Amino acid sequence: MILLDGKKVSNDIKNEIAAEVNKMKERKEKVPHLAAIIVGNDGASLTYVNSKVKSCKRVGFESSLVSLSGTTSEVELLNKIEELNNNDDIDGFIVQLPLPPQIDTQKVLMAVDPDKDVDGFHPTNFGKMSLDMTSFIPATPFGILELLERYNIPTKGKHTVVIGRSHIVGRPMSILMGRSGFPGNSTVTLTHKYTKNITQITSQADIIIIAVGIPHFLKAEMIKDDAVVIDVGITRVPDESTEKGYKIVGDVDFDNVKKKASHITPVPGGVGPMTIAMLLKNTLLARERHRQRENK
Ligand code: GUN
Repeated sequence: MILLDGKKVSNDIKNEIAAEVNKMKERKEKVPHLAAIIVGNDGASLTYVNSKVKSCKRVGFESSLVSLSGTTSEVELLNKIEELNNNDDIDGFIVQLPLPPQIDTQKVLMAVDPDKDVDGFHPTNFGKMSLDMTSFIPATPFGILELLERYNIPTKGKHTVVIGRSHIVGRPMSILMGRSGFPGNSTVTLTHKYTKNITQITSQADIIIIAVGIPHFLKAEMIKDDAVVIDVGITRVPDESTEKGYKIVGDVDFDNVKKKASHITPVPGGVGPMTIAMLLKNTLLARERHRQRENK
């Protein structure tokens, strides 16, 4: 069994990005600038956003954090987005999800300028991704592609089963694995909560990508020998033995599944760190595309 070490790979990627930023500085060019908007004070969201900002510093990017109260109205948030869309100093920005209930998430994601949409959530980017056009690919799926590529895991003609159809992970992943190229060219099955007889499907999978947020959902009995297993789950479960009072648990029954899998991502230290690395990569791309538009 080979452990897919997202921590190591994400570090490699951050080093590569930092080297690019150094070259930009040598050429006296502007460095990439990422902004993040967070609404409210959900513990997990704050942790993720702070981690994104910290990673910007690590690679030499500029970063801005916009913290809005949990009672912010939809109009106030849309105004803030418009401000960032028009701010030429900012190459890309994200609106951390989930948003409070008074705000229509779709309306918000539609308001982000697609050229600055480094999360790749705007329908323009999602459509372009589906049509093999240049776009921003959502960071978590992008990170999974990068892991498959760097570990040279064959995907052509393989049966990839995606579990979970979220707009952030499962749905885009199902599209990307079926695109032409590497990683891609898979035969894809997208499963979800209404899928019947899921074990019958997962037990035929060469590659399983699971993002359902249900701890230990995927059991060893559900996979075939030598399957590749990618676990996107990051559920916080109470654990008094830890300093923080919780631990992070994946969607895979890791201790048993690892005995059967050929490759598997750990949680934590698998897909999670890749997501941030790929957000940085998208921001680097956003800066490069922004520069090209300025030079036209
Ligand atoms: N919430 C969970 N994952 C993500 C992500 O990739 N981007 C944003 N903006 N919010 C999230």
